[in-house]
Amino acid sequence: MATAILSALADEQSGLIEQLEAAECIHHAGRDFWCGRLHGQRVVLALSRIGKVSAAITVAALIERFQVERVLFTGVAGGLAPSVQVGDIVVASGFVQHDLDVSPLYPRYQVPYYDRDRFDCDEALTAILLRANNDLWVGGFAGFDTENGRLLPKLHTGLLASGDQFVGSAAKSAAIFNGLRAAGHEPLAVEMEGAAVAQVCFDHRVPLAAVRTISDRADDAAHLDFERFLRDVASRVAHEIVGAFLKQLS
Ligand code: ADE
Repeated sequence: MATAILSALADEQSGLIEQLEAAECIHHAGRDFWCGRLHGQRVVLALSRIGKVSAAITVAALIERFQVERVLFTGVAGGLAPSVQVGDIVVASGFVQHDLDVSPLYPRYQVPYYDRDRFDCDEALTAILLRANNDLWVGGFAGFDTENGRLLPKLHTGLLASGDQFVGSAAKSAAIFNGLRAAGHEPLAVEMEGAAVAQVCFDHRVPLAAVRTISDRADDAAHLDFERFLRDVASRVAHEIVGAFLKQLS
């Protein structure tokens, strides 16, 4: 059985495909799934694409067609909590859908038929992911080490908020943050897929661990920071994390 490496970004995936041993590409459900070995582990590489529906389709295929035994999801996110800054890493403890609202039929954010508003990542797999990150960023701190051109991030663990929109204004970001806090949640960052992936994994009892690098602050400059970050940093960080995670598995 294999580990699924689910990437949000094509750049993250392309570098991993280059490293894949005994690589085989299988086309299924309109998507490419790359099977092979990475750091001694059997893996299936797939792209979540953007948004909750696309991500759910990809992860359902990984589980049903490729029978993966665990999922590692990597990508970028916009910082919501004041302490979460560009360049930081957030290991997800769980996900909530910030754009889900079936009130007054159900409480705000609650997923109908599940009696819950958040889906948690697997504790044991998340512990492995945290160990992998700790190994990578020993003594890490927020910001860039300009001398070595290397990212030295701050590591956070907590709740991520997913929704089908790129959050690109301080007003929108504050509304999401404050709305979730009013319902008892403490979201660290916002992205567009994780809650869907977590819900599919929950239904199939497949362990999930997820990590996001902070590309922007989900504010008025978010689109500029996002593009620069993707170009300069995101895929490099994702490769290091995937490598360290797979080595921890063996
Ligand atoms: N992923 C990275 N930055 C984001 C943002 N500002 N909104 C939604 N998803 C993101």
